[in-house]
Amino acid sequence: MKTIYLIGFMGCGKSTIGSHLSEQTNETYIDTDTYIEDLYEKEISEIFQESGEEVFRTYEIEALKNVSTYSIVSTGGGIVKKPENLNTMKTNGITIYLQTSFNEIIERLENDDSRPLWDSNLTDNMNVLYERRILLYEAHADYIIDTGNKTVEEITKEIEEIMEVN
Ligand code: S3P
Repeated sequence: MKTIYLIGFMGCGKSTIGSHLSEQTNETYIDTDTYIEDLYEKEISEIFQESGEEVFRTYEIEALKNVSTYSIVSTGGGIVKKPENLNTMKTNGITIYLQTSFNEIIERLENDDSRPLWDSNLTDNMNVLYERRILLYEAHADYIIDTGNKTVEEITKEIEEIMEVN
C-alpha cells in the first residue's frame, strides 16, 4: 500500500485528520513531529531553541524516511522545504494537501505558543510565510482537499475515497 502523506500549513489539521483516518481505516499512523519528539525526548520548540531550525530539518528528513513503513503520515508544515522530503514522499506514496485559508489558520493558532515559527502578533510576517508555503504545497500535492466548512468526518471520507483508487 502507498503511504498517505498529509501536508499543509501549521494548524490545517494534519494530525487530527491523520489520527481520525487511522481509526476509521485501521491503518497505521504516525506524525513526523511526534516521531522526532519521542526519538530525541525533546519538544519541537526545545529543538529549535537549543539547536536551531536547520538541525530540526535534518532530523525531519531522517524521520520522514524512517516512517515510510506507516500507511498514514502527518507531516510538519515545513516538510516541503527540503527537496529530499519531496523525493521521499514521491517515491513511497501520495501527498494530500489540506488547504486551509489564512484567516482560519489565524483563528486556530490564536493562542498557540508551541510552534516556534508561528507568532500571532506578527500577522504580516505569518502571511508572507503562508503565501510562500502554499505555492510549495500546491506544486507538490497529488491531491488537494479544501478543508473550509468541512467536518473532520467529511475530510476523512474524502481521503478514504482517494485511498480506494490508489
Ligand atoms: C513547522 C511546522 C510544525 C513543526 C515545526 C515547523 C513549519 O508542524 O514541524 O514547528 O515549518 O511549518 P505543524 O505543521 O504540525 O504545526
